[in-house]
Amino acid sequence: MAEYTLTVTTGDMLHAGGFDNVYVTLLGAQGRSNCTQLTGVGPVNETEKVGTFSVTSAFTLGFLLLLQVEKDPFHESEAKPWFCSTIAVRTPEDDDVFFPCYKWLSRGDLVLLRGGRATKAFEDFYPRLQDQRKRELVQQKLTYKWDEYAEGMAFVFNVTEPKSLLAEDRLSFSKAKHFAYRRKLVDALTEAGILHSTARWENFEDMKNVSKSTLAEKVSQLWKNDDFFAYQFLNGVNPYMIRRCSKLPPNFPVTDEMVKPFLAEGTTLNKEMENGNIFIIDYKIMEGLPTTVLDGKRVPLTAALCLLYMTDEKKLRPLAIQLGQQPSQDNPIFLPSDSEADWLLAKLHVRHVDTLHGLLVSHLHNTHLVAEVFAMATLRNLPVIHPLHKLLIPHHRSTLFANTVARALLYGPGRFFDNSSISAEGQVPLMRRALVQLSYASLCAPDDIAARGLESVPNFYYRDDALRMWNVIHSFVTAVVAYYYPLDSEVSADSELQQWVDEIFNYGFLGNAASGFPSSLQNVEELIKYVTMLIFTVSARHASLNSGQMDYLTWIPNGPLLLHLAPPTAKGNASMEDILTTLPNKSFGSLAASLHWFLSEKYDDFVPLGHYPQRFSEPAVLRMIEDFQAELSTISDAIVKRNEELRLPYPYLNPKEIENSISI
Ligand code: FE2
Repeated sequence: MAEYTLTVTTGDMLHAGGFDNVYVTLLGAQGRSNCTQLTGVGPVNETEKVGTFSVTSAFTLGFLLLLQVEKDPFHESEAKPWFCSTIAVRTPEDDDVFFPCYKWLSRGDLVLLRGGRATKAFEDFYPRLQDQRKRELVQQKLTYKWDEYAEGMAFVFNVTEPKSLLAEDRLSFSKAKHFAYRRKLVDALTEAGILHSTARWENFEDMKNVSKSTLAEKVSQLWKNDDFFAYQFLNGVNPYMIRRCSKLPPNFPVTDEMVKPFLAEGTTLNKEMENGNIFIIDYKIMEGLPTTVLDGKRVPLTAALCLLYMTDEKKLRPLAIQLGQQPSQDNPIFLPSDSEADWLLAKLHVRHVDTLHGLLVSHLHNTHLVAEVFAMATLRNLPVIHPLHKLLIPHHRSTLFANTVARALLYGPGRFFDNSSISAEGQVPLMRRALVQLSYASLCAPDDIAARGLESVPNFYYRDDALRMWNVIHSFVTAVVAYYYPLDSEVSADSELQQWVDEIFNYGFLGNAASGFPSSLQNVEELIKYVTMLIFTVSARHASLNSGQMDYLTWIPNGPLLLHLAPPTAKGNASMEDILTTLPNKSFGSLAASLHWFLSEKYDDFVPLGHYPQRFSEPAVLRMIEDFQAELSTISDAIVKRNEELRLPYPYLNPKEIENSISI
């Protein structure tokens, strides 16, 4: 008689314990064990979380191939799913084999778990394991099917209703609690008579009711300030637009005469461009999009151009704004010396287009939709025993859920953003343009910063922190990838890996070679960069766009999603009253603020970057994870210390505030 000891861990989330009978069978190279009931795995584990069980067989089973777990299909009690986290097996030979599960098991479910060292397909010696590996991927491809959301856009998961997702892909209980809390906030705004008021704001003071953080309070004081306006291109919630300008585009004819009063004594615009002190932001991507129709008219959305100057005192300041791509008499270039109302309106239109660009292009498209492609490709092509599945699956947690909810509630016809300036009609063309413009290099932080010429810009905290994060992720990924891929030839020979990269290229980037996205990976170095890019995008890059929404966008004049009045076509006619008339009304302004608040909230089920439920069992890799966490902690301390010295802190890339995956 051979005895195996199983240590079974139930998930620590609410309602993880189950009541049905659970049976396990060990499948080894030399036979199978008795099918054994895990008595009391449900109610006992609901409090204790860990149970120890004995499984026997007539003979020793040899190399353990699989662990079969099934829930009784015919139990009498009320059906209740059970979340099995892991099962650790001690063999009669005193070997330990670790089987990660992390699945909800419902009545009648049967799963086959793979344990032990992570393997690539060509490393599986036993035909039973090779076969299981193929069967798993066939099943995954049936569960996770691609859908073409619209021609010219990245493919998405074909599930449209959040409730149709698998239990482990669905909303956590703690997030559900916050969803309910948000409803209370919406109720409070309704009670205060704000939410259903189509009235315009009578004064700026009243807008403070919907602005909800200490930093938002500062934003409400600083929003008219030129330095703060420019600061946000570096350290606000869309730090991906600014670039160094060495030559003015022909459609932005700013002259020396216009900007001379704002430049240092004795210099010219050309000289300052040569010296690297001029920067540009160009929203050409928004040009000509069909906008929302209100009262029979299209609301304005300007494809603005904005020129900035780095002064001798290392202050970034706006120099000139043109509120559209075509210069003309009706489209003047606004300057800081214009009337207060003209200049403020010009900046307001820039904040408007920047906010929508930030939310829909930088955030929704370049992180959420891209992350969905990564998650789908991982689920479909990398079996659970593959080292990259083990490494990456925690970085896909809740992403399919978040995006399915976004499609159900936020964008598309009749959804939230349909009421912003970019209606559903304009969203698909914008997403198509975003995909065409998105390059592999732009998702790799060092390449992105270099391409935009921003290496030496002072007080650029986003860049400083993003590069730190890129480097720390890169060194962790280097260690893990080098451990599993000691030779370049193992990268090119890994058919599952190649299929994974190919699906991302074809379903995410529609086979567009100009994007720079690879369709295959040939060596270890390429694989390290690719995996670093993926983890950086779904963690740090997403945090830089998501976490500051409450701070920067809930003060409505700093982040309007809709403007009512078109930009002035001539200077000198605008009044400060026009600012209030231009802003969104009470209802939409406050609803948008509540959405920013809700999306940038830190949830109870938040998992910080680098924290992984155990899937690896190799001690060397577990040490790499510990080293990664220690380095993240050091970076976190340095960022906290740096922020103590700043008038406006930049906390969004503090590793303790960065989530491991896109979950909201
Ligand atoms: Fe997000």
